[in-house]
Amino acid sequence: MKTKRIKVFAPATVSNVGPGFDLMGFAINGIGDELEVSISSADGVRIKKIFGDYNRLPYNPSKNTATVSILSLLKSYQIKVGLDIIIWKKMGIGSGLGSSAASAVAGVFAVNKLLGLNLSKQELLKHALAGELIASKSIHADNAAPCLFGGFVLIRSYNPIDIVKIDYPQNLYCSIIYPDIEIKTSEARKILDKKVERKIAIAQAGNASGLIAGLIKKDFELISRSMEDFIAEPKRAQLIPCYNEIKNAALINGALNCNISGSGPSMFSFSTSEKEAHKIVNAMKKAALKNGFKSKIFVSQINDDGTSVIK
Ligand code: HSE
Repeated sequence: MKTKRIKVFAPATVSNVGPGFDLMGFAINGIGDELEVSISSADGVRIKKIFGDYNRLPYNPSKNTATVSILSLLKSYQIKVGLDIIIWKKMGIGSGLGSSAASAVAGVFAVNKLLGLNLSKQELLKHALAGELIASKSIHADNAAPCLFGGFVLIRSYNPIDIVKIDYPQNLYCSIIYPDIEIKTSEARKILDKKVERKIAIAQAGNASGLIAGLIKKDFELISRSMEDFIAEPKRAQLIPCYNEIKNAALINGALNCNISGSGPSMFSFSTSEKEAHKIVNAMKKAALKNGFKSKIFVSQINDDGTSVIK
C-alpha cells in the first residue's frame, strides 16, 4: 500500500490577552508543535514517537491531546482508518503558550487534510477542544481557536461556539518571556474565584471591549489602558515568583502592557516596533535572571496563518 502522509505546524498562542479570560488569544510565529500523520494498514490510531517532551507525554491514544482530538473526529464521522502519528513538541509543557492546544489542533488539522475530509475550521475546533479537555480538564478555546484560525481571535460565545477574527495593527509586536518554571493550567484554574462581583464583571467587560476596539482602531493608547485583568492576574501572579519585577522591567522599557500568557508562567508585552520589542524582552529576561530564574525569550508579530501544512 502506498504510504500517504502529511506533516503540519501548529503555532504557539498567547491566550486571555489581559482582560479576555477564556475569550481571546492570538497565534505567534516561530514556536509551535509539528505533527505527522500517515495512513497505516494496521487498524487504530497509534503514537509512534514523541520528540522533545522529555518523556512526559502519554503514548496512550486515549490520553494524549493529539490523538484524543483525532479519535473524537473519527468517531463523529464513523471513519475507520489506521493512523500512525509522530509528534515534535517544540515548546515547553505547562509554559502558558498553548502546548496542549497546539497538539490537539495539529492532530485534527492533519487528519482532515490527509483524508480529504474538507471539514470547516469550526468543525475541527470542536474536536480539538475534546483533546484540550484531557490536558487542562476544562473547555477553553482561547489557545485552540487562534492556533487553528491564526490571527487575533475572540470567542464571542461558547454555546454555540462563535469565533470572530479581529483586525489588529500590523506594527503590533509581542515580547514573550518563558521563565523556567511549570504551571499546570488545571491547577491555575482551581485558584480562581468561581464567582465574580458585579463591579469586577463591569470593569473586565469594559477593558475587554476597549482592547478589541483599540485593536480595530489601531489605537495603541486604548490598547494599553485596556490591558488590566481583574479576574486571573490578581490570583495567578503569585504563581510566578518574579512576576512584579518582570512586569516593571517591561513597563519601564516602554511596553504597552505586561500580562500573564494563558495560565503562565510565560508573560507577554505589546509594543509598536521590533526594536522596542527586543529591548523590552531583554529587560524582562534580565529581571528574571536577577531574581534567580533562567528564561527563554521570543519576539513575534501576530501569526495570521494559524496551523498549516509543512510537508
Ligand atoms: N484561558 C485559559 C486559562 C488559558 O487562563 O486558564 C490556559 O492556557
